This record gives sequence, structure tokens and C-alpha cells, in this order.
Amino acid sequence: MKLTVNGTEHEVDVDPDMPLLWVLRDTLGITGVKYGCGIAQCGACTVHVDGAAVRSCQLPISALEGEVTTVEGLSNAETLHAVQEAWLDHQVAQCGYCQSGQIMAAASFLDLNSDPTDAQIDQVMSANLCRCGTYPRIRAAVKAAAAKLNEGA
Ligand code: FES
Ligand code: FES
Repeated sequence: MKLTVNGTEHEVDVDPDMPLLWVLRDTLGITGVKYGCGIAQCGACTVHVDGAAVRSCQLPISALEGEVTTVEGLSNAETLHAVQEAWLDHQVAQCGYCQSGQIMAAASFLDLNSDPTDAQIDQVMSANLCRCGTYPRIRAAVKAAAAKLNEGA
């Protein structure tokens, strides 16, 4: 099977039912994407498929349609994505385990809603579970990233 991840095409020989998460982590060694629950409930495995946030633990590789971006491919070689910069500025991460999924969810959310309210941020981002309770900093970082993206728009 062929798939494109972060702009690079790969050919993999795996079970068609294997979730994208495990193709990324175990077959391709792209480990920014994390395993949390395996049942599409926590968001730790969030990647983008053609820009949309997808829970890769529940997407069989045979059902993949589109180009995959992981947290490793969100920025270009020289500049971080505005969401990644805001995450650093606001020191969002604690243990960090959920954070690549949070960043991917936030980046996709801001593509759809470039000027979200606090309530909208809380509603969307609470679907990505963080046992360290970083939600207040996530909210602040999403707002900062939105402001930066709108500045450059
Ligand atoms: S590991 Fe995919 S949603 Fe939890
Ligand atoms: S930062 Fe630890 S689970 Fe979110």
C-alpha cells in the first residue's frame, strides 16, 4: 500500500486492517503520534488527513484517502507553525503525552474557525483528553495562535 506522510511517499506491506496509527509508529517510525486509548476517545493519535483532524487509531490503512500530516510535518524546515509557537510561548505541555494530538487538533480547528471564542475553544479542545489538565493554557495558546494567524492573513 502507498501513503504520503509529511510530503514523502511510502510503500508499506502491512495488514489492510492495521490502523494508520501503527503504520505511522511501528512501520514508518514516526513516533510524534501517540497511542492513548485505541478507541477514538482520547485524541492522542490525532493526525491530519488532507488537513482535517483524524483519530488515526481507528482508521484502517486500507481506508486512508488523502495525504497524512503528523506533528513532525506541521512546520516547514525553518519556521514552526503558529500553533507550535504558541504552545511553546505558553508552556502548555506538562508530561507532554497528549500534546502532539492537541496541537494537531488545534491547527485543524483554527483552519475551520480562525477567530474562536473561549467557549468554542473549550468545547473543541476538551475532546482531546489531557490528564495533566492543561486546558487553561491550551485555551490561551489557541487564542494566541489565532491572533498570529490572523495577523499574517
Ligand atoms: S489513541 Fe486514538 S483516540 Fe485515543
Ligand atoms: S500534558 Fe500530560 S496528558 Fe496532557
